Amino acid sequence: MRVIVTGGAGFIGSALVRHLVLDKGYDVLTIDALTYAGCEASLRAVQDKANHRFVKADICDRAAMDVAIADFAPDRIMHLAAESHVDRSITGAADFIQTNIVGTFTLLEAARGYWSGLEADAKSAFRFLHVSTDEVYGSLGDEGLFEETTPYDPSSPYSASKAASDHLAKAWERTYGLPVVVSNCSNNYGPYHFPEKLIPLTILNAMEGRRLPVYGKGDNVRDWLFVDDHARALDIIIEKGRVGETYNVGGRNERQNIDVVRRICAVLDQLISGDTPRENLIEFVTDRPGHDARYAIDATKLETELGWRAHETFDTGIEKTVRWYLENQWWWQPLREKYDGRRLGLTAAKISGAPITGTPA
Ligand code: NAD
Ligand code: TYD
Repeated sequence: MRVIVTGGAGFIGSALVRHLVLDKGYDVLTIDALTYAGCEASLRAVQDKANHRFVKADICDRAAMDVAIADFAPDRIMHLAAESHVDRSITGAADFIQTNIVGTFTLLEAARGYWSGLEADAKSAFRFLHVSTDEVYGSLGDEGLFEETTPYDPSSPYSASKAASDHLAKAWERTYGLPVVVSNCSNNYGPYHFPEKLIPLTILNAMEGRRLPVYGKGDNVRDWLFVDDHARALDIIIEKGRVGETYNVGGRNERQNIDVVRRICAVLDQLISGDTPRENLIEFVTDRPGHDARYAIDATKLETELGWRAHETFDTGIEKTVRWYLENQWWWQPLREKYDGRRLGLTAAKISGAPITGTPA
């Protein structure tokens, strides 16, 4: 099996590459532009493996995509490359429009060019998995779950750009017959997560005795999935999923943000005792503009049709994650020097009067 993974130097992409190379023994080509979020160190476990190759390239570069795909001759393309952080998309959306929409279009066209030249058997076996987010569905109230049929209603520039890319992927299947499958997953957490997102930021700030910024009242709900469970799901979806279909991915682990932050503090307090409980570092800060209240995934289709199950609960996964950050400073220290955790994603009206966060308590 020959698989191209775009965005393979990112958080989820690197977990997927490790799974495909080390657990499945597939031949894998990682394509990644190594933006601020891309990190070759995340691929250290596979860098010397004969069944892994890396190409630094931008998915918006059609010529580079044509060459990489033709040279590698994949059976599958798993497309994860994206700008992924909501707060950054609020500060500036241009890179999100470029990579998530124009880049996905460019990759779909390159894949279509390659696929249309394949022999009949290879052509019918070929698959393109477009990896997306549950944020395309917008925000839930207190009740209900996102299903595959939930109408799209994105709130942030990030989720709007992902929604656009999902529609492109579906259109390339309906119009050109490209064998596309789409997956929409809930919030991931785990090792190698860039320390701008809630969970890694909270772990590192709490380890360093810095303030822990919680947006608004901390009552927004996210449905957390351990990243290795997502990686396995993606492999199962591209292997067994039906062409043209969407599969939602989630582990039934809804938590309010404040409870996530408190849990991380409790785990750290258990592992390294301090003078005072780390939850004293929590600081409620100005809310995110357009902040979605609640996400929750119904993964029944993936579970019943394709036989996937999450292995980790939130409590087992978060303990593994905290331990990993404690033991792997070599990975996060250079990133922390590049991005110090300062607040992103406030509009001008909200910046005035907003406390500076991430500073020493
Ligand atoms: P990430 O930001 O950690 O990694 C993105 C990777 O894409 C980086 O390695 C970056 O260098 C690369 N990249 C960015 N622009 C590129 C370009 N123009 N060309 C080539 N490479 C480029 O993101 P992630 O959290 O690993 O997310 C991966 C995918 O999964 C994204 O498509 C995201 O929308 C989706 N997703 C993420 C989550 C989550 O909780 N993180 C949940 C559901 C879906
Ligand atoms: P994040 O990790 O940015 O993921 P997403 O916006 O894609 O869900 O944020 C998760 C939740 O945590 C979201 O409700 C915003 C909130 N949040 C904070 O309260 N404080 C923070 O410092 C960050 C980064 C996020």
